[in-house]
Parts: sequence; structure tokens; C-alpha cells
Amino acid sequence: MEEIRVKAPATVANVVCGFDCLGFALNEPFDEMLVRKIDEPGVRIKHRDTFGLPEEPERNVAGLAALAILDAARADFGVEIEITKHIKPGSGIGSSSASACGAVVAINHLLGERFSKLELVGFAMEGEAFASGARHADNLAPCLFGGFTLVRTTDPLDIVELSFPKLWATVIHPQIEIRTSEARALLPQEVPLRAAIVQWANVGALVAGLAKADLGLIGRSLEDAIVEPVRKPLIPNFDEVKAACLDAGALGGGISGSGPSLFMLSASMETAVSVEKAMCTAFQKTGILFSTYVSEIAREGIRVAASRE
Ligand code: HSE
Repeated sequence: MEEIRVKAPATVANVVCGFDCLGFALNEPFDEMLVRKIDEPGVRIKHRDTFGLPEEPERNVAGLAALAILDAARADFGVEIEITKHIKPGSGIGSSSASACGAVVAINHLLGERFSKLELVGFAMEGEAFASGARHADNLAPCLFGGFTLVRTTDPLDIVELSFPKLWATVIHPQIEIRTSEARALLPQEVPLRAAIVQWANVGALVAGLAKADLGLIGRSLEDAIVEPVRKPLIPNFDEVKAACLDAGALGGGISGSGPSLFMLSASMETAVSVEKAMCTAFQKTGILFSTYVSEIAREGIRVAASRE
């Protein structure tokens, strides 16, 4: 294999109560990457988009992840990576994870599938850590494994693929940028026991609700006693948008990753589309441009699109 194309999906991390642990994959938007072997060792990055991301591999999320896997494999070749990002950086829907995962999945193909998905998450985390200033894998895991995942620990990596029923996500992406590193700087370093109890009870209940396809339990568990209260002031009209979505029939939802995107889960596509309309109406009042997506939770993560032998 000399060249490989991949589609790397957006993901929703935290899923309200599961800060740094829970995440799920979307069908769209996704980034497109073309990765080809080159004779010279090392990594060359070319961005075919207009986001102005750095192309030096040591300052690029995909570049750092690529260097990590090539180094671990002691590869006797280098790679050129062409990236067309459709997931805006700083959107809160796993833009950096898509870049990092796309690079390592493609390179693993070029290496003859030498590494497991779990090992690939480890390499991708090198890129993610550069983007967010912390080693977390809650976007990486669903991007690589697909579906709904729980990261039990990052050191060592222990990832649980969760059972879940058919669910649709509606996402609104306001066109403002919130850097994950800045959103993380707001977080409390200590948490009152009372809030911690609410949080771990909700995480357990959400995982149980997903496994039992208990939609009421899923909705009741989408509550965040720790992170949402400190981050929601970053998102204009947050409370109003959320209330409008619940009125339109959403099971529940909140900030996607570190924001500014906001997501809602619904039990059917029809409801997810009604929720999208409610979101738009409530958010329009801010005067800020936005885009929206409706997607079933994607059972597949990175898709290998085509290749050249
Ligand atoms: N769990 C991370 C956070 C997701 O909320 O900071 C963003 O990458």
C-alpha cells in the first residue's frame, strides 16, 4: 500500500456528565486526509483548507501523531499528509482528534495494520495533548472505535465500547472559537463531594440507560454538576437554547466537548430535526453565525475511503 484516503469524523466528548471519559462519533462533518509514503523519513503536512493551521509537523496535531506512530514502528519511510478539514478547529466537535486519528489510522494501513486500535489512540493522544494541553482521549476513542465509548483510564489506556440504542444528535456550532486549553483553564481543581456524587451517579445511570435503551434514564442522566456551570457563560444564550431543545422533544444535552458547540440527543430523526429548528430560532437572537448538523450516532469511526497499491 502506497497511499490511503481516510474520512475522520467529528465526535462529541464529555456527553454532559462524563467529563474527559465519555464520547460518541457523528456521521458528519468529517475531515478528509490523503496519506502517501515518501522515501525521505519524517512527515510533510499540506493543508487543503483555509483554517491556517501550522504545517510544521512538530506544531501540527496530525504531524505529531504521525511522528509518534512512525517512530514506534521504526518505519523506513516517511509520509506526506494532505488534509482537507471540514471540522473547524476550536469548534468543540473533535477537530484535533479527527486530524490525529486520521493520520494514525492511515499510516497504520501503510504499515500493514501493525498496531491495534488501542495503540493507535495512544499515538493520536500525542497530537491531542499538543492541541489541548492535556492527555485525554474522550474524542479520540469514538473517532477511532466509532459508536459510544468510555475512557476508563489514559495511563494505561483502557477504553470501553458501550452498547447504545439508535440515537440522533443535533449539533449547533456557533462561529466563535473556544480553545480547549482556555476552556480547561476555567475548571475547578477540586470538586465538592456533593457534586462528585451527583456526577458519578449520572455517569453510571447514563451508561446503564444506554445499555438498556431506557430513553427516560438517558435523558435524566444528562446533567452536569461540575463543568457546565463554569463553561456555559462562554456560550451565548446557552440556557435559552437548551430549554428550547428540551421543549422540542430532545432527551437532553449540553456543551459538546469544550464548546462552543452544543449538542442534543433525540430518540428519532424527526425529533432531532425539530430540535434543530428550535436551536436555530433560539440561537438566532445572538446575531452570531452558526451551522447545525443532524446525525445518527455513528457506529463506525474513521472510514478508509480508497487506496492505491
Ligand atoms: N474533555 C475535553 C474537555 C474535551 O472538555 O476539555 C475537549 O477536547
